Amino acid sequence: MSPQKMRTTYCGLVTEDLLGQTVSLCGWVNRRRDHGGVIFVDLRDREGYVQVVCDPDRPEMFKAAEGLRNEFCIQVKGLVRARPAGTTNDNLKSGKIEVLCHELTVLNPSVTPPFQLDDENLSETTRLMHRVLDLRRPYMQNNLMLRYKVTMEVRKFLDANGFIDIETPMLTKSTPEGARDYLVPSRVHDGMFFALPQSPQLFKQLLMVAGFDRYYQITKCFRDEDLRADRQPEFTQIDIETSFMTEEEIRTMFEGMIRSTFDHAIGVELPAFPVMKHAEAMRLYGSDKPDLRVKLAFTELTDVMKDVDFKVFSGPANQPDGRVVALRIPGGADMSRGEIDAHTEFVKIYGAKGLAWIKVNDPAMGRDGLQSPIVKNLHDAAVAAILERTGAIQGDLLFFGADKAKVVNDAIGALRVKVGHSEFGKARGLVEGQWKPLWVVDFPMFEYDDDAQRWNAVHHPFTSPKDGHEDWLETDPGRCVAKAYDAVLNGIELGGGSVRIHREDVQSKVFRALKIDAEEAKLKFGFLLDALQYGAPPHGGIAIGLDRFVMLMTGAESLRDVIAFPKTQRAQDLLTGAPGPVDEKQLRELHIRLRNPQAA
Ligand code: AMO
Ligand code: AMP
Repeated sequence: MSPQKMRTTYCGLVTEDLLGQTVSLCGWVNRRRDHGGVIFVDLRDREGYVQVVCDPDRPEMFKAAEGLRNEFCIQVKGLVRARPAGTTNDNLKSGKIEVLCHELTVLNPSVTPPFQLDDENLSETTRLMHRVLDLRRPYMQNNLMLRYKVTMEVRKFLDANGFIDIETPMLTKSTPEGARDYLVPSRVHDGMFFALPQSPQLFKQLLMVAGFDRYYQITKCFRDEDLRADRQPEFTQIDIETSFMTEEEIRTMFEGMIRSTFDHAIGVELPAFPVMKHAEAMRLYGSDKPDLRVKLAFTELTDVMKDVDFKVFSGPANQPDGRVVALRIPGGADMSRGEIDAHTEFVKIYGAKGLAWIKVNDPAMGRDGLQSPIVKNLHDAAVAAILERTGAIQGDLLFFGADKAKVVNDAIGALRVKVGHSEFGKARGLVEGQWKPLWVVDFPMFEYDDDAQRWNAVHHPFTSPKDGHEDWLETDPGRCVAKAYDAVLNGIELGGGSVRIHREDVQSKVFRALKIDAEEAKLKFGFLLDALQYGAPPHGGIAIGLDRFVMLMTGAESLRDVIAFPKTQRAQDLLTGAPGPVDEKQLRELHIRLRNPQAA
């Protein structure tokens, strides 16, 4: 005989199909409502709610129902019956039925929760401190169940394509992905430290040299970096590497993975990903992860501003790293001074010194048809070029950014997105479409760090240059283009990858370009250089940020809404109170003395 079931079905899954049957449900009291003689209990579990009706004609059960409070964990046995006409709830799967309670058992009472679970205005601190209750809320339950579904779909896709899951170490050596390491002191080796992996990058390359051919892992990565809404100090990558596939083949395959996952997990058919060169993305949008839902684009004006009197423009226009652009806002002439001032303050966050503007009242009248604080300082040819290149028409507003290219790109790039998604932008159709993915390709190999006076890798130092660019690695690093690509969705970098260097001589050249000398290279990456000498296959891969992937699907504003136990903006875990102090004894074992014991 099979054992008697504690629960026969989930609360949220009781439907008309079970009419007339007796069910046993287990869940939490979401709310108890006394209706003069009858008690209604909204019972909740991970699948949703069901309405339980407690009649006084079963006195023992009724007494138990009277004692129920929110978040009590209970078991209900009862009869599924149709709700009386007019009392059905179309928002619930179980909205056409209710369960007439025969037996009620309090499995465990609850103290009064610190907040109502359906309170929409909880502070993040409250939510993270009481994470268990926060996680009970349907919003978080749905997000984490979707996260699971996404990983399952990803695994199915990868399995079907011959990728195998191989684990790589957590206690390891530093992998340069551009952030600070989280370090773990070694007890056994005085003064030595492990680094937690910033990614499995080097290990997955070693697995290719070892002949595993197609690897994946859904794994934690650790980066001690400045946190933002879309960054966590520990986050999860869908990490992938393959041998014997070209850059295009890799992109095609993983575009397939992203699209199939969107389709199976949330029923969204993403459009095909257009491919945009990095230089083009920077030219048009000032960003390597452009939000293509926004229909605004930059107009290049650097060349025409070299000889104007207006120093704000001619200064940067004559600097090698300067840039002057316009951003045309169709219909923007309606914007009030107050709105323009607010945008001016906004771009200052990105280092801009101001935000020049022109309202186009009547372009046919040339400069007389323009309203602006700056036009008087621009000669006729410059004004004509502005109007012609931007294609401005009556009623438009032009914003201008002039500074170092980085400042202009950051500031006007952010302004473009802000205006596009503002109420103003929505009303004027400046945003379009729900999902706008793309590939950004042909990243430069290196970027120059002015402060340190050296070249840095844009992706990571194991990225292959384009064929024929190897010769410039040492003579003209700024010219080298990488076989690197990013998958971007709605202005967020979803994933990034590259074809790797599989030859030791090329890898050594890249290290030299990065001013990593032979000795340092041997010390840090000797195991990789070594492996590359044994017939390493051509290989490449990608890593998709799982947290960001799920965040985009749910429409959440923060990664914290798709991670069960996330860290705050200040890299703390409010639930457990980590990081925290440790005993002097533990420190001694680890050969560590604190520099500032009072701080701990
Ligand atoms: P990359 O550093 O671009 O590449 O990381 C890949 C993806 O991981 C996500 N991501 C993050 N998500 C949340 N919080 C963070 N702090 C964070 N940092 C990165 C992003 C990003 O696109 N080894 C290479 C991949 C490769 O070349 O195969 C790598 O780690 O979505
Ligand atoms: P000013 O000459 O400082 O009075 O500036 C004239 C106009 O140019 C104002 O609208 C400023 O907001 C704008 N402005 C100043 N600096 C910049 C800049 N670097 N880029 C774009 N506009 C600027």
